[in-house]
Amino acid sequence: MKKAKMILDRDFSIGQIDKRLYGSFIEHLGRAVYGGIYEPGHPTADKSGFRRDVMDLIRKLDVPIVRYPGGNFVSGFNWEDSIGPVETRPRRLDLAWATTETNEVGLHEFAEWAKDAQTEVMYAVNLGSKGPDEARNVVEYANHKGGTYWSDLRIKNGAKDPFDIKLWCLGNEMDGPWQMCQKTAYEYGRVAREAGKMMKWVDSSIELVACGSSSHDMPTFGAWEYQMLDECYDQVDHVSIHRYYGNPTGDTPGFLARSMDMDAFIKTVVSICDAVGGKKHSKKKLNLSFDEWNVWYHSNAQDKEIVKQDKWGKALPLLEDIYNFEDALLVGSMLITMLRNADRVKVACMAQLVNVIAPIMTRNGGGAWAQTIYWPLLHASKYGRGTALRPIVQSPTYDCSDYTDVPFLDATAVLNSDGSVTLFAVNRDMKENIELTCDLRAFGKLQPSEHIVLHHDDVKAVNSESAPNNVSPKKGTHGKMDNGQLSISIPALSWNVIRLTK
Ligand code: AHR
Repeated sequence: MKKAKMILDRDFSIGQIDKRLYGSFIEHLGRAVYGGIYEPGHPTADKSGFRRDVMDLIRKLDVPIVRYPGGNFVSGFNWEDSIGPVETRPRRLDLAWATTETNEVGLHEFAEWAKDAQTEVMYAVNLGSKGPDEARNVVEYANHKGGTYWSDLRIKNGAKDPFDIKLWCLGNEMDGPWQMCQKTAYEYGRVAREAGKMMKWVDSSIELVACGSSSHDMPTFGAWEYQMLDECYDQVDHVSIHRYYGNPTGDTPGFLARSMDMDAFIKTVVSICDAVGGKKHSKKKLNLSFDEWNVWYHSNAQDKEIVKQDKWGKALPLLEDIYNFEDALLVGSMLITMLRNADRVKVACMAQLVNVIAPIMTRNGGGAWAQTIYWPLLHASKYGRGTALRPIVQSPTYDCSDYTDVPFLDATAVLNSDGSVTLFAVNRDMKENIELTCDLRAFGKLQPSEHIVLHHDDVKAVNSESAPNNVSPKKGTHGKMDNGQLSISIPALSWNVIRLTK
């Protein structure tokens, strides 16, 4: 039987967890908007056409922020198309996804939906085919009180109060050749600086996210961050990072170790931010916005066929990954990794929220259900708020295709504001339970009050409309507390939430 040990102390902390760590993303892509959050005529649709069944699942996640409207889509998007009477809005070719955008849902509708979903909007401006002028105009439209061209137009269009959008992305993945109007690091850095400067002149309370590399694997990774920040360091607050993993070869131990790559990626980008800050003798520290992260590979082949058969179609079923149990375990480890870096990762958006590589799936005219990955996100969002603790974890390790010394037990802990402590743990071992001892003496009289376990005997098990609870959380063993030492069994291949309360 494998054994692991954890030591926690309230004075060993990483920092305050920004609630925006549990954000998400809705792009005008596939059935995320049309057929996802919005489907007039659906039995559960409200008077604005938004699906209440989807809204219920989203509200349970308590998503603090939703990135919108893209993604690759935003690099060709005219935000002005998405305001005013719906009948007069133009239909446009979306070159990012080879589909047709009707603009039926636009800025006002999305802001209304976000309010209802009890979330904030994180709005991305187009720094591909458009530039600083359109960017500062949309800030004026959304956030200025009134008495100017754009703010009065918003009022005329039905929103007396500003939308008050606080977090803005300066474009999306501008290093990628698949992007409309890809830029070099220098070109992008200058545009981001000028756009950011003007946007903050319109509203000094906003925060800005500059585009980091679209992935760790880009040939320009590292140099991109350094050069673009050299141009716009003073104007921005966060640098974006994006990461998706897949398991096309069916190597589960290797796949579950991918969060180690995520950890190294975060640390590298933090180092580059600090190097540029150092070079500039700046007192300012930039944070990271991990505004696209998830598993993404199941739908790749199918997507090519869909676009081949229905190029320029509307709301095509694109990027509809059906997530299995092992995906949920990696998502759990990715959340643990973000908590371990909560001092510098202040925003994170699981990509995406509905239908498109998403924790929530729908059928047009039919049901809505939670995919396997919904559960770790829900648990982290619910119990992962407060102070991220810096645990000492001793675990047996394994070697796999890409890594050596991968801990079987991936774990971290949070001190919640009511004095309770929550442990999050993934057991990566395919066969054996891990007997965990956790030293909690520094926290006084805590007792284990809840142990939630996500496990399935089949790593490829999925949820579906007819079997929505096939992979769903169950009650665990609770464990035993003796003199401030918790002993608990962490089942083989499982995601665990262990709650300790006074
Ligand atoms: O989330 C799907 C796509 O992945 C986004 O549009 C893009 O930014 C990334 O490449």
